[in-house]
This record gives sequence, C-alpha cells and structure tokens, in this order.
Amino acid sequence: MKKFVGIDDIATYVPKTYLELVPEYEARKGNYADSEFSRLRGIPPAKIAKGIGVYQFGWPDGHEDSVTMGAMAFKKLIEKNDLKLSDIGRVFVGTESAVDHSKPNAMFIVGAIERALGKDGETRNYTPLDLKFACAGATAGLEFLSEWTETGKNNEKAGVVIATDVSHYPLQSGEEITQGAGAVAMLVKENPRLLALENSMTTEITSTVCKDEKDFFRPLHRHSAVVDGQLSVDCYLDACKDALTDYRKKAVTQGFVKDEELLTDKFDRILVHLPFHKMGEYAGVSLFRHEWRNTPRFREIEREIGPEPSHEDVKADKEFARKFRETELFKEVFSEKMEKGLAASERTGNLYTGSLYASLSSMLELESQQGTDIGGMRFAFGSYGSGLMFKAFTGTVQPRFKEVIGELDLLKALDERRTDKRRSLSVAEYERLHEKNSGMAESVLPPKNEFVLASIGTSKVDEGYRYYKFVD
Ligand code: HMG
Repeated sequence: MKKFVGIDDIATYVPKTYLELVPEYEARKGNYADSEFSRLRGIPPAKIAKGIGVYQFGWPDGHEDSVTMGAMAFKKLIEKNDLKLSDIGRVFVGTESAVDHSKPNAMFIVGAIERALGKDGETRNYTPLDLKFACAGATAGLEFLSEWTETGKNNEKAGVVIATDVSHYPLQSGEEITQGAGAVAMLVKENPRLLALENSMTTEITSTVCKDEKDFFRPLHRHSAVVDGQLSVDCYLDACKDALTDYRKKAVTQGFVKDEELLTDKFDRILVHLPFHKMGEYAGVSLFRHEWRNTPRFREIEREIGPEPSHEDVKADKEFARKFRETELFKEVFSEKMEKGLAASERTGNLYTGSLYASLSSMLELESQQGTDIGGMRFAFGSYGSGLMFKAFTGTVQPRFKEVIGELDLLKALDERRTDKRRSLSVAEYERLHEKNSGMAESVLPPKNEFVLASIGTSKVDEGYRYYKFVD
C-alpha cells in the first residue's frame, strides 16, 4: 500500500528585534516616507518598498545566532505537538550561517534542546546533520527525511528539518536591504496532517537542476556574502524555468499532465524561494510566460502589451516582463496562486534556507484567515540555492490540515514585533549587532524565555567554542 509522507507541522521563529527600512503603514497606502535607515543610506524609500518589496527585516540580538534561532523553532515544534524527544530520530539542519566549520549546527541545537527539555542522554541515538546548498539546504533535508520515512528505516521515529539563517551582506552595500534572519522547523512523518509529498520527492516526479555558478557565495573567511545581484536573479529564473520544463517532461510520461495541458493549471498554489517580495513576482512572470507561450492566453497578452521581443534583446525582454506583470490575466492568476505566500517576506527579509517554508506558513495562515478549503489542493514548490541548484516538487494538502494551520503564527509574531517600539533597532544598534562578527554583542533586549549564546571559550582546549543555554 502506498505510504503518504510529508510535512506534519511547521514552527517558525523570527528575532524579536528588527530594522525598519520604510515606515510600513504609510508605504502600504502608497506614501513612501524615509526611515532613519533609508535617509542615512540615501536610498529612495519607494525603491525599498515598491521596487524590492520590503518594509523591515528581523535582525538577531546580541545573544542570538543561527543555533539559538534554530533551537527556538525546534522547541516550539516539540511543545505544540507534545512530542517526547524520544519520538524523534533525525534532525537535519539546512543552513549557510553555520557557527563552526566542523561541528554541525544540528548538534549544537540538539544539545541545547536536550539540556532545556529532556533527560540526560535522551537524544543519544539521534542523527543530527547539517546540509549545505545555499538556500536549498533545508529542501535537501526534507527530501532525505521523506525518503528515510518512506523506506521505513525510521522505525516509526519522526524526522525534523530545521532551516535557520542570517542573511548577511556588507553594511552600506546595495544588497543590505535584502537581509533578514529567522528559522523554520518542520516535522516529517508518515500520514502527515498537513502536506503529503506524494508524487513528488518520494517518487519520480520531481526535478533538480544544478550548475556550477558564482552568482552568490561566502568564502570561509568572510562573515557576509559576495553577490553579483543581476547574475543571481538571472540564474534563479533560468534554473526555475529549466526545472519546470524537466518536471513537465516527467509529469507527461507519468500521466499526471496531458501533452496539451499546462502544468501550472494543475497547481493550485505555487511557492518559490523568496529572497525578497519582488523576486516572487519575477518568478511568477517567468513561470507563466514560459508556460503560456503558444496558447490563446499568450496571444491575448500580446494583443494587450505588444509582441514578445527576442530574448537576446535584454532591455526589451525586461520591459516585456514588466508589462506582462501588469496584465489583468497575470495579476489574477498570481493573486490566486502565489501572492499570499509573499506576505511574510515583506517583514522577515531573506531567511535564506527558511524563506520557502516561511512562505508556506504565510500562505497557509492567510488561507486559514480567509477560510479557504485547501484540502486536496496541490501545492508546487520551487527551492533555489545559489551556486546553484533548483529543486521543484509538489505536495497535496491533507484532509486533517485544519488541525495544523489555525496554529501557525508567523504573521502574528511579525505583528507583535511591530507593535513594540523597543524592538525596532536604531541604525546604530543594528550596525553594532551587524558587525559583531560571530561573537557576542551586548543585547538590546535582555533575553527571556529563549536560547542564548552564553559564552565563547578562551582556553587552549575550548578556544572559540560556543556555549548555549536556555534562559527562563
Ligand atoms: P538593485 O540594483 O538594488 O535594484 O538590485 P534594481 O535596479 O534591480 O531595482 C530593483 C527594482 O526596484 C526594479 O523593479 C526597479 O525598477 C525598482 P522592476 O523594474 O524590476 O520591477 N526601483 C524603484 N522603484 C521605485 N522607486 C525607485 C526605484 N529604483 C529602483 N526610486 C538586487 C537588486 C536584488 C539584485 C540586489 O538587492 C541584490 O543583489 N540582492 C542580493 C542578492 C539576491 O537577493 N538575489 C536574488 C536571487 S538569488 C537568490 O535568491 C539566492 C539567495 O537567497 C542566496 C542563497 O541561495 O543562499 C540570495
């Protein structure tokens, strides 16, 4: 009998502290006023809010890093599901902000969780591993844990995937406005309540595209990433298109879609990696433009905005994409299938490995608020990691989804963060935290009910070792 395997539940964590890029309430009404940040950097607020599509991003306080954030999301997942630590067998962490070159974040996180919640030795038989492929690391974790569960090698234990990152670029760089921080933890089980990844990662209709590229990377000696911005956007969109084409071929062979049908019509919702809100729109245009070409829909669009230029004419091609984005046909489909997934990213910023799964939470929370019956819907995912790899896969929302989605609270956490003035960092506070260079900086908010980086070793046998604990 076919086993259903996939995501049973999701828990998210965003830092309590954040940097305001543009005053949000005004920007939502189309009035783009300066923030302290935009004024000091000399960036037009309209570019940040409208051009990139962000209002703020979370930034870790002095006692936080990718381990503490991952542990916070994991703890929340355990508590909301009433799990015993012995119910879990594997913890795979996707991160590109690891705190040590040798010891995985997964082990730091599991250790901190056992000390805070468990009995001594309760995680002794865990397999804690980090998986690295830029923003696609957590997706690889989800894939491997799904396979582990499907084969039955899990011995009825659950798997946990944690995506945790600080998206970090140099101060005063053009990329600075696309930073962010946060973590997502997902419970991977048989007969999941939320999303079964059947016909996708656990069988053959999935697509992985890779290419050795240097669009974005972080050399070992550097704290922040090096990026060729335009190249990174182009690499993402090319890989997305190629993954869709490859997925389609497999889907036709397996009878999931007929030759004359459009794949994107078969997907009720589409979620993509989101370094920033606007990237989701670029991806949507690229996907639908590619799929609709040679259909009556495309002819209708060409009648409205003129004929599609040759791809060689880069300027004309970009202009066509911009106009395509403004057509009623695109707006309607984008609003139905993609837009709700983009909402959280306006306030989280780029979570790297967690971005795609924070987007899933965002989508589910808004569908829940609107009371949409999403049971049986097919969700498509596009996970991009620079350097580069793109994974396309799908999942079906399970009948018990309502038990889970009402409890998802990423948007609530972002609302709460916004209402507390103390949590909004001044530019001076943010810059001090930004430059702490993997050490500890004085915290802006005293830690409470959270994991902290307590100290860093200085002796001959623990130089640079990071000690974590939970503070009540
Ligand atoms: P940029 O040069 O700052 O901005 O680069 P731009 O000139 O491309 O403009 C962006 C948009 O703002 C455009 O909108 C402009 O028109 C608009 P569009 O025309 O495309 O709709 N704009 C304005 N709008 C209103 N008022 C204004 C104004 N000025 C301009 N005054 C870029 C942007 C994203 C490239 C840069 O911020 C960057 O390099 N960011 C970091 C890299 C990145 O996020 N890349 C995304 C793809 S790669 C990826 O997602 C992987 C990643 O997550 C890492 C991983 O895998 O681990 C990054």
